[in-house]
Amino acid sequence: MNNFEFYCPTKIVFGKGSIAKLKNLIDKNKKVLMIYGGGSIKKNGVYEQVKNALKDYNLIEFSGIEPNPTYETCMKAVELARKENVDFLLAVGGGSVLDGTKFIAAAVKYKGQEPYELVSKGLDFEEALPVGAVMTLPATGSEMNCAAVISRISTKEKFAMRHPNVYPEFSIIDPETTFSLPIKQVRNGIIDTFVHVMELYATYDVNTPLQDSWALGLVKTLIQETPKVIKNNKDYDAKANICWCATCGLNYWLSLGAVQDWSTHRIGHELTALYGLAHGQSLAIVLPRLWEARKKDKANKLAKLAREAFNCKEIDDLKAADCAIKKTEKFFKSIGMPTKFSDYKINPLEAAQKVKERFEQRGTLLGEDEKVTPQMVYDILKNC
Ligand code: NZQ
Ligand code: ZN
Repeated sequence: MNNFEFYCPTKIVFGKGSIAKLKNLIDKNKKVLMIYGGGSIKKNGVYEQVKNALKDYNLIEFSGIEPNPTYETCMKAVELARKENVDFLLAVGGGSVLDGTKFIAAAVKYKGQEPYELVSKGLDFEEALPVGAVMTLPATGSEMNCAAVISRISTKEKFAMRHPNVYPEFSIIDPETTFSLPIKQVRNGIIDTFVHVMELYATYDVNTPLQDSWALGLVKTLIQETPKVIKNNKDYDAKANICWCATCGLNYWLSLGAVQDWSTHRIGHELTALYGLAHGQSLAIVLPRLWEARKKDKANKLAKLAREAFNCKEIDDLKAADCAIKKTEKFFKSIGMPTKFSDYKINPLEAAQKVKERFEQRGTLLGEDEKVTPQMVYDILKNC
């Protein structure tokens, strides 16, 4: 096992009716900026619950954070937060709202000219406004991690930043808030969770049996609970399990002391930036073909996944790895998630060329062992 340090200051408040607890979580003397997206929270009653819980607070609002939150929109919120001198940011929505809020928290306090550098250059920073979250979409794990992924319209870029100062102070996860999710978002969230676990698990073995068992346990739970929520979006118990899977999929527990991949995400971010695919959609296209290209290097972990989560019987590791790849794609398709560019009328050769060129320009090497060169990305994407 590799050395690691771990500290997560986020308090998780989980379950039905938890939004009412907001008043115990934010200091009453703070001026709060509530940040949300395109209005889903006004239709499903979450907005009202938040307003009720915080009726005695000095609360102002910023709406319009889009899916794949943009730098351009977030900077409008930064302006408002500075003008109004707010001292607490409350994100209410999905991963995009929370990611945008984390960036806003850092950007408000940033002294330089161009806060985009926090993302594009991954600059260090000393201060950020405190952030709290009411999560309405199980997917990103943003509610219990310190990452934010920000897109920039003007340059068609999408980059992640990670900094301990943007861990949420608390996150409220009430599975009932997810009952209003369109099936498309439920699906995206399940794929995202699955792929997070795999970015952390399906690498090379450094003797982390506990972390591996957690990862496989999470994936088994996800595969078991998924059909229930696809059948009934209001199945509270199944939704509660899916929500907790999503949070634990990327709160870093699975990755401690282990080796991480992230190539599927890095390639997926480019596809979102270039073609507007939703995050989950991009991952479902890349993962199976990336695993085919990297089968030998990942055979050990993929074989274990095949046997423990997918009930494959193959004794040979490479054959078992094949089984894991097939069953993973089958699982994606079983919930109606496309796995091919052609499903979106995107030309694979064109996409492969564009992404390759971007990675070449940036000198990007991907994967747990940095073996995924721009040329290999090309070869993977042309088969997608
Ligand atoms: O904007 P509103 O109106 O709220 O609608 C949203 C949005 O249109 C809607 N929605 C959210 N909760 C709902 C709901 N609709 C009905 N009922 C509800 N309860 O769903 C749409 C998608 O929301 P979004 O927040 O974009 O989805 P998600 O949570 O999947 O977040 C995706 C973003 O997170 C990033 C992705 O790259 C993408 O930008 N990620 C963040 C990570 C992190 N912070 O650690 C890691 C991930 O790998 C991921 O990259
Ligand atoms: Zn993701």
